[in-house]
Amino acid sequence: MKVLVSDSFSPEGLEQLKEQAEVDYRPEITPEELIKQVKLFEGLVVRSRSKVTAEVIEAGKKLKVIGRAGVGVDNIDVEKATEKGIIVVNAPHGNTISAAEHAVALLTSLARNVPQASSSIKRGEWERSKYTGVELNHKMLGVIGVGRIGSEVARRARALGMKIIAYDPYITRNHAEKLGIESVAFEDLLRQSDFITFHLPLNPSTYHLIGEKELAMLKPGVRIVNCARGGLIDEDALCTALQEGRVEGAALDVFEQEPPGSCRLIELDNVIATPHLGALTREAQANVALQVSEQVIRALKGEPIVSAVNAPVLLPETRASIGPFLPLARAMGSFYLQLFGGSVDEIELTYSGHLASMPLAPMTLSCLIGFLQHIVGDGVNWVNASYIAKNRGVAVRETSTTEAKNYSNLITMRARTGEEEHHISGTLLNGDMRIVRVDDYRIEIVPARYMLVTTHNDRPGVVGKIGTLLGNENVNIASMQLGRKEARGEAMMVLQVDEEMPAETLSKVKELDVITSANFVIMPKSIFSGD
Ligand code: NAD
Ligand code: MLT
Repeated sequence: MKVLVSDSFSPEGLEQLKEQAEVDYRPEITPEELIKQVKLFEGLVVRSRSKVTAEVIEAGKKLKVIGRAGVGVDNIDVEKATEKGIIVVNAPHGNTISAAEHAVALLTSLARNVPQASSSIKRGEWERSKYTGVELNHKMLGVIGVGRIGSEVARRARALGMKIIAYDPYITRNHAEKLGIESVAFEDLLRQSDFITFHLPLNPSTYHLIGEKELAMLKPGVRIVNCARGGLIDEDALCTALQEGRVEGAALDVFEQEPPGSCRLIELDNVIATPHLGALTREAQANVALQVSEQVIRALKGEPIVSAVNAPVLLPETRASIGPFLPLARAMGSFYLQLFGGSVDEIELTYSGHLASMPLAPMTLSCLIGFLQHIVGDGVNWVNASYIAKNRGVAVRETSTTEAKNYSNLITMRARTGEEEHHISGTLLNGDMRIVRVDDYRIEIVPARYMLVTTHNDRPGVVGKIGTLLGNENVNIASMQLGRKEARGEAMMVLQVDEEMPAETLSKVKELDVITSANFVIMPKSIFSGD
């Protein structure tokens, strides 16, 4: 396993990576060199300096995983990585406390003009009244984004005697109450806060969350702390508001361009700034490097990972409970496609019996992989299966019910193309896979690598005719299952055979007058190997 580390990285993380992989440590690599070199590596580890663009990802022909030593993945084209089936992992917990502490440091420095006063005294001045500050006690702090860092900042600010309100559209009022935070509407937060602090990700929907319009709603004299991402605030608009005194001060750790170069915002006296130091403590750097290295190695070894940004998290306990159903779901996806074709608008999976209480997403993905493998080849995996399905216009739905009729567990796959609809159901019987329903046929198919699936009108002699033909063609039958809708009605026969059947033999089967349809089904090896 070869891993490229293209940003500065703590020695602890490097050591851990080197125990398992060949590591090329290139913390100063240029963007051009990165594009040239990345093709040699299965893993790429970055912090925020390296920009993992679509071009880098396209060039990384062998890439299986991109690791981000930190939280924000706005420097990685996650969509492109997903399309290519590359796992993106981050280290979401390692720098929470450091970032929260830095936000509080900025908050207190801002209230008391600490950096400006420090620079003044170093210049030999003794200015006191000029640096008169304000207390934090009893002031209203507006927290935008109450995830890991926002919650920790709120906790610390409460200890400083501040009142806290928060805006986060993805947390419930209940969760906010548990954190001791009053959850309010965005505009209310803007109007009521004496201080505002940002702790949300930068993405297309949060870019310039605060622009001219929002700045105009702020309480006069408000102070702003941004320790999340530069692009969240329109810097030009903020600059004007600071110059006009509508915003009393700003403390910024992050900038839209980093480094910001000559920036009129930073030159203002009422702005204090640090060069993206939020996560720069010894503890946080060691934490994130160790966390991301572990996840990168796990991803390369195909082991369960816990911090994938673009792939489902399959914890060991989840794997233990639903693991045996993953090959069944994959077998069903593959079987369906080979029997009924892949041109579908919608796939609906229903999980019945005790499966209803289990995590469904991994089983759905496994089914999609089995289905899509026949269309797009081995390029489909856990990371991109949903993406590929969506891009092909296939809507995927999941439902569950505790009712499973005669089975303790049952997966039903139903797919539709316009008016046409087919369904199959599968179960685990004492741990063994069975497909127990194909449209209206009740049957007990044992999925095998090679299967001949035929339908015929149920009457004496049919099975013999097919058996004789296959014998003459030197095709060895391993086992057989029969199912029918009613006696002497339509019937289905599944023959497990030892090897792939030549196309001419299949044509001869189809030509038999007793046969109404014949398909040769080849199941992916992964269903039997558990890969
Ligand atoms: P997190 O995922 O735990 O929390 C982010 C929160 O933002 C979530 O609760 C989410 O619901 C909320 N959110 C998403 N969109 C929102 C919106 N439009 N309005 C309001 N809230 C919204 O992440 P975290 O670990 O707390 O980190 C937050 C951000 O801080 C990261 O995305 C990263 O960019 C930044 N960060 C900066 C530094 C630094 O060095 N300055 C260090 C670590 C993290
Ligand atoms: C993060 O998102 O984790 C921080 O911004 C720290 C960093 O970029 O290294």
